[in-house]
Amino acid sequence: MTPGEAGLWRRMSAADRRHAVVVARRVDITLGPAATRPVLAAALLHDVGKVESGFGPVRRAAATVAGMVGGHDAAGRWRGRRGLVGRVGRYLCHDEVGAGLLAGAGSDALTIAWAREHHLSPERWTVDAEVGAALKAADDV
Ligand SMILES: [Fe+2]
Ligand SMILES: [Fe+2]
Repeated sequence: MTPGEAGLWRRMSAADRRHAVVVARRVDITLGPAATRPVLAAALLHDVGKVESGFGPVRRAAATVAGMVGGHDAAGRWRGRRGLVGRVGRYLCHDEVGAGLLAGAGSDALTIAWAREHHLSPERWTVDAEVGAALKAADDV
């Protein structure tokens, strides 16, 4: 990780870090030498945008329900609001929030792209299909 990425890593919750380490180990096993530093950083930091909401598991579940009702477009509007609504919006947009944080941390383009794309369907990925498939499979188990 770059120093900027390490700073973001330290802001992640223990549970999110444990999940991320599992994802990175699986990707490393699947891709072998193709698991480059930016790919492993993508595995470790794909959900980093969740730090901006500061939610624990209960409020995450509630935010997920709100997202199912309101949709991703509504979440985009909530994002800029203050208070709880804003935090729900930022949680639901953790893909875009994370991509912004990683760009600010000087991450590799692939690491940034995967944070933005990890909830999109494969035909919308800009990351290499094989790399994306390995990252997605490792995240979904
Ligand atoms: Fe995510
Ligand atoms: Fe994940």
